[in-house]
Amino acid sequence: MATAKVKKGEGTTRSYHVADESLAPMGKNRILWADRDMPVLAEIRARFEKEKPLKGHRMSACLHVTAETANLARTLKAGGADLVLVASNPLSTQDDVAASLVKDYGMRVYAIKGEDNDTYYQHLDAGMRHSPSITMDDGADLVHGLHTTHIEFGKNIVASLEETTTGVIRLQALHKEGKLRFPVFAVNDADTKHLFDNRYGTGQSTLDGIIRATDILIAGRVIVVAGYGWCGKGFAMRAKGHGAEVVVTEINPIRALEARMDGFRVMPMADAAKIGDVFCTVTGNMHVIRPEHFEKMKDGVYVCNSGHFDIELDLKGLAKMSKKVDKNVVPFVDRYTLASGNTVNIIAEGRLVNLGAAHGHPASVMDMSFATQALTTEHAIKSAKKLKAEVYDVPKQIEDYISTLKLKTMGIKIDKLTPDQKKYLSTWEMGT
Ligand code: ADE
Repeated sequence: MATAKVKKGEGTTRSYHVADESLAPMGKNRILWADRDMPVLAEIRARFEKEKPLKGHRMSACLHVTAETANLARTLKAGGADLVLVASNPLSTQDDVAASLVKDYGMRVYAIKGEDNDTYYQHLDAGMRHSPSITMDDGADLVHGLHTTHIEFGKNIVASLEETTTGVIRLQALHKEGKLRFPVFAVNDADTKHLFDNRYGTGQSTLDGIIRATDILIAGRVIVVAGYGWCGKGFAMRAKGHGAEVVVTEINPIRALEARMDGFRVMPMADAAKIGDVFCTVTGNMHVIRPEHFEKMKDGVYVCNSGHFDIELDLKGLAKMSKKVDKNVVPFVDRYTLASGNTVNIIAEGRLVNLGAAHGHPASVMDMSFATQALTTEHAIKSAKKLKAEVYDVPKQIEDYISTLKLKTMGIKIDKLTPDQKKYLSTWEMGT
């Protein structure tokens, strides 16, 4: 995989930093292609264009730089925000999209697919140095920086928005310790986000990443899913639909029961390791698959992660127990040969397989996630005076607006409560 390296500091001093500006024409095509499937966001963008509700706000967004994110960025800019966009993962950037955002949409973007760690942090720095009044994170890296190394750039923050489960968990921990310095919105926890993006988005895009990288037939394989949250549920459902035998591992008894009653086998990773053909972690925790598991695996297995950070697989442990590592045996697959002679194929370096080896969630589902982001940004600005340094939910009216509009754009009508039904739901006397 190409690794983009810049000189120390270079990533922060430039006014943008992308891999190759000549890729812009294809990037623009892909942005507009995704836009066809993002009608809710388009409607919000049209209103933002007229009303400019974000005017006067400096925004820094640390998100996966994809065609779908580009359409969110266009919406925020249409609303009047002065936006800097930086990558939230070293492998997830679509270089053509990043190029088009700079060349065609005049945006400041810092994101290069395959960027090394130094470059990643220089890009993050650029986001913080923008001295934002609003931040948007996918994984809480901006908020983390604004609470640690770059506190001085967080002085004007009105609110911060968080896109992912892992980020919300980090923010709640920060709040619990009494250290949260500004209000944050848990966008991930909105029904319009996690019920669709985490479940159907991750379900499809994770399978897509595995298939694109390996070209294997899913039917007939044993697929081990570690973690049965919304992402794990979605992936297990889609793997089953492709004819795999799905095994779930969990640490939470309720989720383990849910998995069992959804029809999957449930067992500890130590047992699953012996029977799996494909392994995918979606837990949000570290070292879910460790040397003691790699050791037990069959020859030639495929192992990947679709959780936010690349810590779910203990790859250092795997490297130590391997006598050979062949990088990129095919694009996005590294083959580790163990002392026993068995091989383990790691996909997308243990980073998010759906964005590393595929294009992430489809636009239709990101439409709802990013509509939630755009409207919550507007809400945060409108209610700025009332907000405290707490973790807030997305207001229910925003969820209702988005779900109603999404149904309309899909041509789906639903029933309305009759007056009698409304009355029934509001009394306690009727019914026994
Ligand atoms: N997260 C998962 N899929 C994504 C996508 N297509 N764009 C932005 N963020 C994502």
